[in-house]
Amino acid sequence: MSSAASHIPVLMNEVLAALKPANGEVYIDGTFGAGGYTAHILQAADCCVIGLDRDPNVAPHVDAIRGEFGVRFTFVEAEFSKLDKVTNGELVDGIVLDIGVSSMQLDQDKRGFSFMRDGPLDMRMAGNASDAGASAYDAIKHLSRNDLQQIFKAYGEERRARRCADFIVRAREDAPIETTLQLANVLAQALGSGGKRHPATKVFQALRIFVNDELGELVRALLAAERILKPGGRLVVVSFHSLEDRIVKAFLRKRSGEVRGGSRHLPPQSASEEYGDNAPSFTLPKRSGVAPKEAELAANPRARSARLRCGVRTDAPIWPSEVEDMLPRVPDLDNLRKLSS
Ligand SMILES: C[S@@+](CC[C@H](N)C(=O)[O-])C[C@H]1O[C@@H](n2cnc3c(N)ncnc32)[C@H](O)[C@@H]1O
Repeated sequence: MSSAASHIPVLMNEVLAALKPANGEVYIDGTFGAGGYTAHILQAADCCVIGLDRDPNVAPHVDAIRGEFGVRFTFVEAEFSKLDKVTNGELVDGIVLDIGVSSMQLDQDKRGFSFMRDGPLDMRMAGNASDAGASAYDAIKHLSRNDLQQIFKAYGEERRARRCADFIVRAREDAPIETTLQLANVLAQALGSGGKRHPATKVFQALRIFVNDELGELVRALLAAERILKPGGRLVVVSFHSLEDRIVKAFLRKRSGEVRGGSRHLPPQSASEEYGDNAPSFTLPKRSGVAPKEAELAANPRARSARLRCGVRTDAPIWPSEVEDMLPRVPDLDNLRKLSS
């Protein structure tokens, strides 16, 4: 099976229903991957798509979509946090993000994403070129016990983060931890291997999120979407775990003027008390997230944790925002870059 065939687009019908492709409109697919979403959007209407991906390995899929759809498709190798820099200032009608790793990335041993496959401990979505930033190997080699613990807790929600960090620090004193299976074995020693999930699951997730700055990317992309969507433009985000979904949910609910549930003992706060002069910059067609249906799960079990959320841009000005306010506190990735360079 080719790698393109091995990535099944998740929640495809629901994405199209939320994005509503129409003739003459322009969309950004911020997570091009194997081009599944892009192809379906271009088939649904006589529209244009600008695809973005930070992974240079998507090139064959870019060529295939270009071959099929010609000038209606353009591609930019870039992080989706920069999605408002790719249109020369033109506003767009819709943005779709399908956050996370692709099956092509997970299934390639040499990318080092999977604890089930032996490969170099890498996990960088931007590939392994020298300018692709610090890798999971660098993090495991250089970070202090406290930093590792904090990352495993914040990004993996690993209850025994301290124990995992202790075992890693002890193991790396004996010999460098260079491969995915070496790290998976250390974690199996730390946590035992009796549970339903592989003991390395949460730490691998945490390292991947850390080295790719995935949550920072997501927050900056949401803010960029607020800047670049036309009034009436649709923002559609599919996420795969609760850390991401929480950020998208909080952003959209806040921007739609929804007031957080306060204390039962206090009078309810109004939107103007909570948000001052900021008028809602999004409306929400659905308040809750959309999950895959049984039939999709039967065909593609990897879709099980996917959630789709959608917002429609109003004509209100953008809100002032601090990226850091929307993120968990973790060690500085730039610091690791310095340690490992
Ligand atoms: C789940 S796949 C997308 C699959 C795609 N929807 C399809 O149907 O083929 C996620 C893709 O987003 C890319 N990606 C993840 N984070 C990114 C970021 N911050 N900036 C740009 N691309 C990113 C990954 O490299 C990967 O190719």
